[in-house]
Amino acid sequence: LKEVREISEMASIHFIRQRDPLGLGHAVLVAEDHVAGESFAVLLGDDLIAGNTPLLQEMLRIHERYGRSVIAVVEVARDEIGMYGSIEPEFVQERLARVVSIVEKPSPDDAPSNLAAIGRYVLTPEIFDSLRAAKPGKGGEMQLTDALNALAQEQAVYAYVFENGRFDVGNKLDYLKATIELAVDRDDVGQEIR
Ligand code: G1P
Repeated sequence: LKEVREISEMASIHFIRQRDPLGLGHAVLVAEDHVAGESFAVLLGDDLIAGNTPLLQEMLRIHERYGRSVIAVVEVARDEIGMYGSIEPEFVQERLARVVSIVEKPSPDDAPSNLAAIGRYVLTPEIFDSLRAAKPGKGGEMQLTDALNALAQEQAVYAYVFENGRFDVGNKLDYLKATIELAVDRDDVGQEIR
C-alpha cells in the first residue's frame, strides 16, 4: 500500500479522453487546454525509453537552448521506415539536425531518410495552429507528423538522434526484451533475472 501511495504522490495527474480515434494529432489537440500556451512534451506510451541519459531531459536541454520544438529520432533499417514519420535532416551538429521536412509512413523508396520519429516530442504551442489547419493525412487520421511538417516551414524544428535504449512495446519481441533488460538493473529482481 505504501508503494502505491508513493506513486500517487509523485505527480498531479489530469486526463482527458479522446472520444474518437481520429489520430495522434487529434489526441494532442484535445489536450490543448491543459497546456495553457506553454511548450509541452508528448510521450507515447508504447515507446519505452531506457538507457543511461534520460532522453527527455536531453530534449528539454535543446529546447531551452533554441526555444523551439524538438523531436527524437532513431536510425532504422530502410524496410522499416514505413512504420514511422521519416525526416529530411539538415545537421547542425553531431546528433542534432534541423527538420527540413517530415513525412508520415512513407514507402521506403520515397522516404527522405532512414531517421524515424519515435514517441517523444517537445513542442511549442504554435503546433496547435498547425494541427487545426491540418487536413486528414495518412489513414484518414489527423497526423501530428503533418502538423510538425507545417510548423517546420514556419519555425525551426529540431531532431535529436537517439542511439540506444528504445523499445517498441507494441512489438512482441521488443516487449519481451524490454521486460528483461529493465529487470536486470532492478534491485529487487535483478540478480535472479541475470
Ligand atoms: C506514431 C506517429 C509516427 C511515429 C510513431 C513512433 O505512429 O504517427 O510518426 O514515428 O508514432 O512510434 P504509430 O506508431 O502510432 O502508428
